[in-house]
Amino acid sequence: MTFPQPALDAADKFPIAFGDNVPYAGSLGIAWAPGRVNLIGEHTDYNDGFVLPIAVDRVAALAGRRRNDSIIRLWSMQFEEYAQFSVEELPQSFEHELRNLPNWARYVLGVAAELASASLPLSGCDAVLSGDVPLGGGMSSSAALEVATVQFFAWLSQGRFTIGAENSTMKPMKVAALCQRAEHIASGLRSGILDQAASCLGQPKKAVLIDCRSLEYRYLPFDESDLSLVVLDTSIRRELANSGYNERRRQCEEAVALLRELIVTQESEGKGQQITSLRDITQEQFDIYKHDLPEVLRRRAGYIIAENARVLQVADLLETGNIEAIGPILWKGHAGLRDEYEVSSKELDALVDIAHSVPGVLGGRMMGGGFGGCTINLVRNEAIEALRQAVEQQYPERTGYQASIEVCHAAGGPGSANLDG
Ligand code: GLA
Repeated sequence: MTFPQPALDAADKFPIAFGDNVPYAGSLGIAWAPGRVNLIGEHTDYNDGFVLPIAVDRVAALAGRRRNDSIIRLWSMQFEEYAQFSVEELPQSFEHELRNLPNWARYVLGVAAELASASLPLSGCDAVLSGDVPLGGGMSSSAALEVATVQFFAWLSQGRFTIGAENSTMKPMKVAALCQRAEHIASGLRSGILDQAASCLGQPKKAVLIDCRSLEYRYLPFDESDLSLVVLDTSIRRELANSGYNERRRQCEEAVALLRELIVTQESEGKGQQITSLRDITQEQFDIYKHDLPEVLRRRAGYIIAENARVLQVADLLETGNIEAIGPILWKGHAGLRDEYEVSSKELDALVDIAHSVPGVLGGRMMGGGFGGCTINLVRNEAIEALRQAVEQQYPERTGYQASIEVCHAAGGPGSANLDG
């Protein structure tokens, strides 16, 4: 089996970061989990809607050994920094431990605290963290780290808890839900389950349609023979927790409450209808009642209802192998994120415009939480070079920044391995 390069890099770094004279309890292990792109379905996850992500060939990885005590020592290759905490009193000691940690280590602590809450076994360890998911760039570097961390703790537990589809302690969606809670407590972002689920469910040559209400999922073929997924990074970073993300979530909740009120009081058949999220409101109902909503909420809810429909349309097209027809739906999705949901930015819009002008780019849109980060583009292989040149020439002129380009492929989910013997 070949292991992801960042996991091997972390393993190489381990003796340098932690020295050779620590009396370790066990062998050297690695664990990893992929980042993701999201083909379509943005901000629909926390509205109980649908998403259509693809795990990609970029991972977060840990390499380390078990200790005989409850201390976790970490070295980040990306931040070139140590961090340390104890798992002894978790989850009660979470707030106390959190205060002393750099942001990147908080995700590991968050996962450890959630494992402790679930009464799963935790042991101390020394570990090196590495990865090639661009950090904070909209490809879910934090979710990849959370999922890789669960894998690593499962490996450390020596079979006391296991992850997998059948007969294991935790199935993939359970891991995803645990990691989503870890994200909430570690960063304060009330994120949905998209990123963690996408990382847990990755499969080569597959996209996955996830129903974020029932947590059921279905794999769809993603044929990459002529096409690539190209991620263009604005190089602008926004802390989502401090941006409008949580505000958007609140606005959707307000819109649901108002629409529920309207539908239940005005429609006799509405009395029997359960409305707990925007997912429960049909386009026809929305068209009738939208004028009674405050302007901002009308735009937010309108976007979400249309986006859910786009996800199902794209899923059908993937299933029937009609990838060409997906392009225009992606452009439309971007327009909705820009004009109605208002989570785009001047830089994201510039990258989408530039991509739109390049023949062979089938479609593109901003991806992830927004306000910065990256765009996802569906590009014919022969057009990648033209897209790269167009971005290099036009993006700095239009924005004053440099963009980077990543060509990604659908890839498998998380894993772990023992490297000694
Ligand atoms: C971030 C969140 C996800 C999702 C996206 C928007 O990536 O972590 O849960 O809400 O934004 O689709």
